[in-house]
Amino acid sequence: PASTTEPRPGDLTVAGVPLAEVADRFGTPVYVLDEGEVRERCRTYLHAFPDADVLYAAKAFLCRAVVHWMAEEGLGLDVCSAGELELAVTTGFPPERIVLHGNAKSPHDLRTALRLGVGRIVIDSPSEISRLAAAVGPEGHQKVMVRVVPGIGAGGHDKIRTGTDDQKFGLSLSDGWAQHAIARILGRPQLELTGLHCHLGSQITSVKPYLAAVRRMVGLMARLYDQHGLILSELDLGGGHGIAYGPGEPALDVTALARRIRAELTEACTAAGLDVPRLLVEPGRAIVGPAGIALYRVLAVKRTGPHLFVAVDGGMSDNPRPALYGVRYAPRLTGRLSTAPMARMTVVGRHCEAGDVLAADVELPADVRPGDLLAVPVAGAYHLSMASGYNLVGRPPVAAVADGHARLLVRRESLADIRSRDVGL
Ligand code: LLP
Repeated sequence: PASTTEPRPGDLTVAGVPLAEVADRFGTPVYVLDEGEVRERCRTYLHAFPDADVLYAAKAFLCRAVVHWMAEEGLGLDVCSAGELELAVTTGFPPERIVLHGNAKSPHDLRTALRLGVGRIVIDSPSEISRLAAAVGPEGHQKVMVRVVPGIGAGGHDKIRTGTDDQKFGLSLSDGWAQHAIARILGRPQLELTGLHCHLGSQITSVKPYLAAVRRMVGLMARLYDQHGLILSELDLGGGHGIAYGPGEPALDVTALARRIRAELTEACTAAGLDVPRLLVEPGRAIVGPAGIALYRVLAVKRTGPHLFVAVDGGMSDNPRPALYGVRYAPRLTGRLSTAPMARMTVVGRHCEAGDVLAADVELPADVRPGDLLAVPVAGAYHLSMASGYNLVGRPPVAAVADGHARLLVRRESLADIRSRDVGL
């Protein structure tokens, strides 16, 4: 039903729905996804990159509704497991618009990709070439790309930088592994090499590394043309476009990024005497991150020495990002109006370890108390998709809000769900 409740003073409202109403209806913790904002972000990309393929990186968050939205908006998909791939295809997503990634694709991943007719498989290691060629068979045909490590460091945290040789993804450009793999692929007629791929890292807030990547990748394309007469028609620059997690933080401007990549690509190709390849980009975070909000209920407030701790009913099992990458979130009180002055406090989760901190040293109204609702903005990407089963609390549900309506997309994981997997004694 449409939201009938008038927002109470102090209520945050998304797409015409008071967040407090979503919390009352679906319980907490709960993730709220603003469908209109997700779609708007897709359109911004399509508009900024009119002659490129925009692939949504499913690892950021995937459920059937998101698959539908991406299909309707005309995006492709980047998946990195048989699970993501099956969910997309069984929901009706066209397999030819899907690219499969992975540094360690299992036999099941590869078989599923071939069975479902995935558009491209991105080769990430030398041994994958013979495995894939055997799975495709001498009479078969599969389009592939090669993931190149261009030697460019970028990304918001060490754990999410993938453009240099000191990490596990891709084939190194500097020591020749990429060139070697490409030569081997050319010797496998059932594998059609359509282009090159690179992904520099994630949460990148400058366009410069992307421009450097364009130059390196075009340089490689030019050498491949000289050595093998090879013409590659596609260049996939991956994702990684950074967003702001709190007020005043920088974000990558997608329109400027697109314009400058296009200019750099045209210039580099012209200088090298190459036709400009078709561009692919794979944003995940920038599509869904800012469109999601996590809602928690405060369960306990206590002072310990100089610290004021506000404990909520979720934590590192639904959002491991502060613990993993030191990300700073900016929670807000919602559901009631407080006139209390702001005070410094630390929002912690309910899990049995001290590292379970959601937001350290943040400003919230001094009278925050049990029963209050806290909203954590920018929670749409890499929260639920990275949720764990820690302490058997069950993973939270996801509700979509649009045009004054809230609806459940993913239900809460129940104890029955958890127990149903526990089959031995
Ligand atoms: N393409 C490839 C090949 C990727 O590996 C990734 C992300 C993307 C695209 C999308 O990147 P995005 O546009 O979302 O930054 N769990 C980390 C992020 C890991 C990203 C892994 N790969 C986090 O919570 O920050």
